[in-house]
Amino acid sequence: MYQLIYISEKSRHFELEDIPRILHIARINNELLNVSGLLLDLPEHFIQVLEGTQNNVESIFTKISDDIRHCNIRCIYKQTVMLQEFGDWSMGFSGELNLEVIQDTIHIANEFVRKQTFTNIQIDSLKLLLKSLNPTSKTY
Ligand SMILES: Cc1cc2nc3c(=O)[nH]c(=O)nc-3n(C[C@H](O)[C@H](O)[C@H](O)COP(=O)(O)O)c2cc1C
Repeated sequence: MYQLIYISEKSRHFELEDIPRILHIARINNELLNVSGLLLDLPEHFIQVLEGTQNNVESIFTKISDDIRHCNIRCIYKQTVMLQEFGDWSMGFSGELNLEVIQDTIHIANEFVRKQTFTNIQIDSLKLLLKSLNPTSKTY
């Protein structure tokens, strides 16, 4: 299992109506390639995690990188992992979570997007944040 996390900036080509279009195509393509993940929709940025085989994740990421609706795409993490962590979603979307959770998440995630470099602990924290959004995961 291979995971990739990137941060990007919404470009001037992006419009609100793109979200359902992106989710539609993502859920079709990702399911075909057995890739799962989560898309975090921030006011000016996206954070997305993709998980699957390395080939499939890389091929989807290549397409995503060519998309003019976002720019300054920075892959901040790619790693082979032992366990599938985002398998419940073909493409989870932050906008479909409850409002309180979204607001907390946006607040925390906005701190990350401003960073230029990431320590391992920061990446682990980001992954925990993303994982905690899974509706089936327990919160304590
Ligand atoms: C922020 C963002 C996230 C995206 N995520 C995915 C994704 O997870 N999977 C996917 O196939 N396309 C995703 N897309 C869309 C791709 O950039 C591209 O439009 C699409 O893969 C083209 O699919 P097609 O070759 O089947 O027409 C995303 C686009 C943006 C802007």
